[in-house]
Amino acid sequence: MSKGSEAAADAEGASSSSKEEIIRGLNEDLAREYKAIIQYVVFSSTLKGPEYGDIAEQLKVHASEELAHALEVARQIDYLGGDPTVEVKDAEYSQDSKKMLEIDLKQEQETIKSYRERIRQAERSGEFALSEALRDIIVQEQDHEIDLRDALGIR
Ligand SMILES: [Fe+2]
Ligand SMILES: [Fe+2]
Repeated sequence: MSKGSEAAADAEGASSSSKEEIIRGLNEDLAREYKAIIQYVVFSSTLKGPEYGDIAEQLKVHASEELAHALEVARQIDYLGGDPTVEVKDAEYSQDSKKMLEIDLKQEQETIKSYRERIRQAERSGEFALSEALRDIIVQEQDHEIDLRDALGIR
């Protein structure tokens, strides 16, 4: 960091450190979206069993929605002056269809929790455009959660 930008960062105080915090958090979210894309691409093509026909089709839709989320989160990171990560959270896999749906469900729940936290951070820092973009994403994550719950027969 140059002397000038260091001084500017000092002057901004708490809000600049929370911006760094938001960028760090968004990169966690981005790495989680990459992981979701991998899991949904693989699992939508390997899911077996006639009872899972509908959800296999839905998982393909999830895969493309997760890609759209990744693109949006990366755009937001760049806009905030950060570098979008190339790190991926380790993808999980099971040959057992029910187990795999449970893995996806757990991941969607973690994702929703993280985005809720990120929305709170964004609003505390006055980043309202970011919080609105994240709200649009979270609506789709909640739909993903519902699809998985329905497929697993969990209400
Ligand atoms: Fe997503
Ligand atoms: Fe999702």
